[in-house]
Amino acid sequence: MIGIFYGSSTLNTEFVSQKILGEFGADRARLHNVKDVSSDLFDSYSAYIFITSTWGAGDLQDDWEVFVPELEKMSISGKTVALVGLGDQKNYPERFCDGIGVLYDKVEALGARVVGSTDTSSYEFKRSAAIRRDKFVGLVIDEDNQSDLTDDRITTWVKRVRKELS
Ligand SMILES: Cc1cc2nc3c(=O)[nH]c(=O)nc-3n(C[C@H](O)[C@H](O)[C@H](O)COP(=O)(O)O)c2cc1C
Repeated sequence: MIGIFYGSSTLNTEFVSQKILGEFGADRARLHNVKDVSSDLFDSYSAYIFITSTWGAGDLQDDWEVFVPELEKMSISGKTVALVGLGDQKNYPERFCDGIGVLYDKVEALGARVVGSTDTSSYEFKRSAAIRRDKFVGLVIDEDNQSDLTDDRITTWVKRVRKELS
């Protein structure tokens, strides 16, 4: 079972998280807001999808900021994690989706295996802390400027990561 964990300030990430859950189906995945998560519940999953928007100066969404110290106490070493970031490439082109770059570093340091990197070519931005080896570390969604591409991006990505997360 895959645990999908999201944090959302103005509900864009919640909306996208529900779509991602829909692609996997209720028999494969469950959805949780990080602000309501206990460690027992967290530990019950074999694979994870972490979904965050970016706020402030390229920071994690607020509920993730609170949850990360908790995450550091849980055991995700050796588990598989996929990341999804929401951002706004037009208004924040210098720190587009930086939040998943922050999460990537945490999760890697905790010994998890991160899957689901994606190509940067269909986005226009100057800089992003979410890039490693010329790719985004996860799926990147821009509901502010490219909401028409969201469904296709999700479907294509879920098809690719489905096997790696099972
Ligand atoms: C004050 C403010 C700061 C933001 N900072 C960033 C940023 O640094 N990088 C980025 O890519 N997007 C940034 N965004 C865009 C949000 O991440 C984007 O709108 C996202 O879809 C919000 O998702 P949520 O409603 O689930 O939190 C910012 C938006 C606001 C209003």
